[in-house]
Amino acid sequence: MITSAQDMQAWSKRVHGAGETIGFVPTMGSLHRGHLSLIEKARAAADHVVVSIFVNPLQFGPGEDFERYPRSLESDLEALRHSGVDVVFTPGLSDIYPDGPENTPTLSAGEIGDVFEGEHRPGHFDGVLTVVARLFQLVACDVAVFGKKDAQQLIAIEQMVAREGFPVKIIRGDIVRDDDGLALSSRNVYLTPEGRADALILQRELRAIENASNTTDPTDSLERIKQARQVLREAPGIELDYLEAVSSDTFTPWEQHPTGEMVVVGAIRVGTTRLLDNVWMPSV
Ligand code: PAJ
Repeated sequence: MITSAQDMQAWSKRVHGAGETIGFVPTMGSLHRGHLSLIEKARAAADHVVVSIFVNPLQFGPGEDFERYPRSLESDLEALRHSGVDVVFTPGLSDIYPDGPENTPTLSAGEIGDVFEGEHRPGHFDGVLTVVARLFQLVACDVAVFGKKDAQQLIAIEQMVAREGFPVKIIRGDIVRDDDGLALSSRNVYLTPEGRADALILQRELRAIENASNTTDPTDSLERIKQARQVLREAPGIELDYLEAVSSDTFTPWEQHPTGEMVVVGAIRVGTTRLLDNVWMPSV
């Protein structure tokens, strides 16, 4: 385990000095099989793998769950023991934000930061990009793996890497689900058994949209999404925040910008817990 910015940079320098590459998986801990699948991808793409665990205050808004976000370093280290990770990087707050988080200039996510999740969580993506950029600097990774589960985050990071010219290759990791279909998330621990059962309707509707997709005509999917939206609005125990087809290039509605892959993104609230899920539609 490496806990300081200095030691992290020294380690990465040694690895690069030996002509070897570094794969990186940033996390906020409370690790599950989704995180472990990203580690597998990183191992396949680089000589060494670094996993970071840091709950980033800058990406939580006032009244969000920063304080109660699940933290479980002991069991995380246990889960990583046989995962083939070379370094678990657990920086302190001052390693990431030497001047304190409130005095740190944030990167701007631009337009993608203001829509969908960004509309519900103002400043969230600026906070994500700020910590990811700092982690990239400290870990000096050659490749980094992010989950498609957080599609908007993934695309915001890809845009940042292109815009800032970071020498990092971004790899997309598929969504890992529980046996009942619920996308794994550290926040699932907040759900009661009833809430969890209610939440399953989002992935059921997403799967139905995916199954109904006619690969020659995306407008069929758009019709099916309208139906699903109605089902989700009427479903008991949940509140629908949004369900929309977007472009994987721009994260704007597919109807306005039909390029790249069509991603159907959804967010629901179950009590006070917000849950995200999505499907990446087969390319046309
Ligand atoms: P965290 O929620 O811990 O997620 C870390 C990585 O795991 C992200 O790339 C996320 O998309 C991925 N992930 C989460 N659930 C997944 C699942 N069910 N299947 C596959 N991948 C999954 O995302 C963050 O942390 C933070 O915002 C971070 C990028 C670390 C910046 O603080």
